[in-house]
Amino acid sequence: MGNQGQYDFDSVIDRRGTNSVKWDCVEERFGLKGLLPMWIADMDFRSPIPVIDALKRVSEQGLFGYAAVTPQFHQAVIDWMRRRHDWDVKREWIVFSPGVVPAINIMVKAFTEPGDEVVVQPPVYHPFFYAIERNDRRVLRNPLRIIDGEYRMDLADLEEKLTPRTKMVLLCSPHNPVGRVWRAEELRELGNLCVRHKLIVVADEIHHDLVYPGFKHTVFPTAGSGLEGRTLVCTGASKTFNLPGLHTSSIIIPDPKLREHFSAVAQASALGGPNPFGIAATEAAYRECEEWLIQLLRYLKGNLDFVNNFTRERMVGPRIAQPQGTYLLWLDFRGTGMPAERLSRFACSEAGVALDPGRLFGADEEGFERMNIACPRATLEEGLRRIERAVHRI
Ligand SMILES: Cc1ncc(COP(=O)(O)O)c(C=O)c1O
Repeated sequence: MGNQGQYDFDSVIDRRGTNSVKWDCVEERFGLKGLLPMWIADMDFRSPIPVIDALKRVSEQGLFGYAAVTPQFHQAVIDWMRRRHDWDVKREWIVFSPGVVPAINIMVKAFTEPGDEVVVQPPVYHPFFYAIERNDRRVLRNPLRIIDGEYRMDLADLEEKLTPRTKMVLLCSPHNPVGRVWRAEELRELGNLCVRHKLIVVADEIHHDLVYPGFKHTVFPTAGSGLEGRTLVCTGASKTFNLPGLHTSSIIIPDPKLREHFSAVAQASALGGPNPFGIAATEAAYRECEEWLIQLLRYLKGNLDFVNNFTRERMVGPRIAQPQGTYLLWLDFRGTGMPAERLSRFACSEAGVALDPGRLFGADEEGFERMNIACPRATLEEGLRRIERAVHRI
């Protein structure tokens, strides 16, 4: 923090050699040297000082035995959800999980049978597909549609495709990778459909705090009546404060029967318990770091504006689905005139930027890439310059 109370998101931190997947495993993952990592969803910013101090306190004790979820942790989650998301969460609704992805896998196992169908809305966060397929369930694809320049849900398509084997919807809200912050009415309509067809909803709201000005995240169970009894909400401080390596998330399950069954299957699968670092860091983040988040959101909006200005002024390149939330950009390179097989390797082989390929998210066509803009502006500019040079060589 500087003397005007401003946090520094501009300094470039060299993350090489810090055991970072994004920076230290990029070469192995993409099979190329010299790539600028703008893939995977973590931020190149240092976490806020109170979080670092809380972690120092834990490490200075030198005691790393099994830890519990503390009443203070629960209270911090409750206060955060009330303050930032207008949702009154009861203490007993909160179930610890060492990550959202393991929790989603448990939910698929707990509330569906092998051969059942689980709805996803591609392009979408790829571990959703794995959670379904690797547990011998079937993916029911309900692709998003672009209407008036905005990705929308196609509920008519969904209702038509439902069968007696359809049991669950995996909702990504805000949506990774297209960056939609779903409006309350959109969620209500989806909710009504789920009530009508008795579907369980897994609402992955891990990006809930990362919303741009003018948009508001709606917690799914608050969007309509009858939703609390059928929804499991996945949240955490991990995206918001850049703590995903601490493996700490809060699964909020208002309905006691759903909660008990989730917990039973989690135990049967030996889902891991809390660790002292994740508990301390999450509590400190929720209690002391709201101002850091406010400034982070301002910085990310600045990055988004920078990308838009750069692409408008300097290249006939990708079209950008304007994100309403998340620090992820969904780039559409299809208008660049490149043939499909060239598009698939354009970003890494030609531009030298490691982006997540669109096909990972179940996009129907080649030509989409996901870019992570949670980095200092200088890094962002370097990435855009690399893409600009490559676009001009097409
Ligand atoms: C929608 C979504 N869910 C879950 C995760 C990861 O959750 P966790 O690290 O808690 O397993 C991510 C990370 O990118 C994500 O984008």
